[in-house]
Amino acid sequence: MSRFKAVIFDLDGVITDTAHYHYLAWKRLAESQGVHFDHAFNENLKGIDRLGSLDLILASSKRAYTREEKLALADEKNLHYQELIATMSAADLLPGAVRALDTVRARGLRIGLASVSKNAFTVLGRLGITDKFDYVVDAATIARGKPDPEIFLKAARELGVAPEDCLGVEDAVAGVASIKSAGMFALGIGHPFVLTQADVVITSLSDFNLESY
Ligand code: G6P
Ligand code: MG
Repeated sequence: MSRFKAVIFDLDGVITDTAHYHYLAWKRLAESQGVHFDHAFNENLKGIDRLGSLDLILASSKRAYTREEKLALADEKNLHYQELIATMSAADLLPGAVRALDTVRARGLRIGLASVSKNAFTVLGRLGITDKFDYVVDAATIARGKPDPEIFLKAARELGVAPEDCLGVEDAVAGVASIKSAGMFALGIGHPFVLTQADVVITSLSDFNLESY
């Protein structure tokens, strides 16, 4: 028996490792603007939405950008990213992801997806797991990205479950902060010394054990 009524998953870094594709697409864009970009910097972008990520990257540029220029650069990055994810398949599912989703379903809990990625529907389709979710938040309808609780609260509301009855699953610091300010239990995927706000941290969904949270 689980004390929760719903589990709300993040996508990137939890169910599939798209972080590498975001890295490649941002690196190409950053270097076109003469901005250095590496893996360490990419870590700061996990869970941060597209324009927020671009602002962080351009903060180290020598020149100023207008709103229109920023929107054009964000579109350019997204085109690189879409080229990269076009070949994704079920082989890109992280270990334990399908088993975790199926366990939650078998226990009769509701399942939601709370990703700020506007490409989430495409990625779920490529992975072949769209129908495993009762509700997927459309990132285009979210005004404030993580760490704001808006996206997790919207998922809970649409699933018809109170926030305190939800388990949120996240790999990013900003994402864990979003879950906690939504008043949910936070399961972190990664390292406890990074995800310090999480209630429990596991290395990957291979270690997911619903009954123990
Ligand atoms: C996720 C990723 C971020 C990405 C964001 C927006 O949160 O962790 O790295 O920037 O989604 O993704 P999008 O596909 O809309 O550009
Ligand atoms: Mg993530």
